[in-house]
Amino acid sequence: MFSTIAVIGTGYVGLTTGACFAHLGHRVICADVVAEKVEGLQRGEIPIFEAQLERIVRAGLDAGNLSFVLGSENAVAEADFVYLCVPTPQSADGSVDLTYLETAAAEISANLKPGTVVVNKSTVPVGSTLLVEQALGRSDVSVVSNPEFLREGTAVDDFLNPDRVVIGADDQAAANRVASLYLGVRAPIMITDPASAEICKYAANAFLATKLSFTNAIAAMCEAVGADVNDVLLGMGYDHRIGHEFLRPGPGWGGSCFPKDSQAIISIAEDAGYDFSLMRGVVAANEQQFDRIVGKVESVIALDGATVAVLGIAFKANTDDTRESPSVEVMKRLVAKGARLKAYDPAVSLVDLDGVEVVADAYAACEGAAAIVVATEWDEFKWLDLDKVADLVAERHIIDARNLLDRGALRRRGFTYQGVGRS
Ligand code: UDX
Repeated sequence: MFSTIAVIGTGYVGLTTGACFAHLGHRVICADVVAEKVEGLQRGEIPIFEAQLERIVRAGLDAGNLSFVLGSENAVAEADFVYLCVPTPQSADGSVDLTYLETAAAEISANLKPGTVVVNKSTVPVGSTLLVEQALGRSDVSVVSNPEFLREGTAVDDFLNPDRVVIGADDQAAANRVASLYLGVRAPIMITDPASAEICKYAANAFLATKLSFTNAIAAMCEAVGADVNDVLLGMGYDHRIGHEFLRPGPGWGGSCFPKDSQAIISIAEDAGYDFSLMRGVVAANEQQFDRIVGKVESVIALDGATVAVLGIAFKANTDDTRESPSVEVMKRLVAKGARLKAYDPAVSLVDLDGVEVVADAYAACEGAAAIVVATEWDEFKWLDLDKVADLVAERHIIDARNLLDRGALRRRGFTYQGVGRS
């Protein structure tokens, strides 16, 4: 049983959601407010760096069950379901800005056919289902929460092969209808109330961020006591209650979700009367991690006036997204201390930061550098010609914030090597 689904917003979440629902056989109409973007998508041009997305969008266009239109009011008239995949950015005070969500709901209301189910896919705080119901002002449509758990770089696979599907609704029939959209997806489908579904998403991200801050804190402790964090984490991860996933130390965590969602859950808790001090500690530990990486650079060179190479700008490998990137946070701090940076990233060609020159390849970044910082775990940095790098740099210092490189090979070539959690 296939349905007609309108998707409002064609960013990472909306485009992946629409293309994957089309892949599952549904008829999908995606709407955006930017004409050029809609025209490009209708031609199968994907404006984001996401593996498999272009293939799956083009398959939907060719099959004729995926289309793109300008304006949400043109997408919903025949829809059985309307997925809201609009931005829910962080406000200045850390709370969630729901302007886009309320605007989208108000825009579509008059065009919805009776019985339509409106679905919140965007990450939204507790009470957003009620908020959308109020913005719609329609008693003959239902609102359901169906939070996304997509990771950038693996979003299509995460949608089609999820660990679970979470659906939050007061109306059981509406929840069952949303669950039926996922026929063909082999995963547990959990139906709960809206508040629990909304919090589940924030809690999952907050827990993952907590796991990472803990990992980076253990790395700092390993440095202090002379242990090797890789072995410590390996030993920890064999415990099935801990697992080996998300136990890689780094420059700190970033991206368009963790920072926003960590602040949001603190804000949601505070508004509800709970002081989520643990989560504030997790966020603080992450800020300290950026400073720790800068401290490692300062331990080998004087930053003022120095040229430093930064390998990796994106917030993680296999994406071009620099939003809240740990690399950018480290670069900001290095520039503030007087360093001049040459940065290279395979997927990022510009960064809006004074004092940073983005260059065409890793070797151009290393030329004349007093130190090299590895900030993003791109595979290509593993295969660098270290003899060539040794000849290019002004001084041989490596700060490997992703424990990516072969420290023995570097030390044999006269480099000082600092990893995270290992000497
Ligand atoms: C995250 C959640 O994983 C996903 O479930 C949610 O839907 C959206 O937010 P994403 O933001 O794409 O996904 O990035 P993720 O892969 O989780 O990485 C987040 C940050 O943690 C990155 O900066 C990454 O480099 C860092 N990280 C991740 C580590 O430092 N070590 C790890 O072991 C894993």
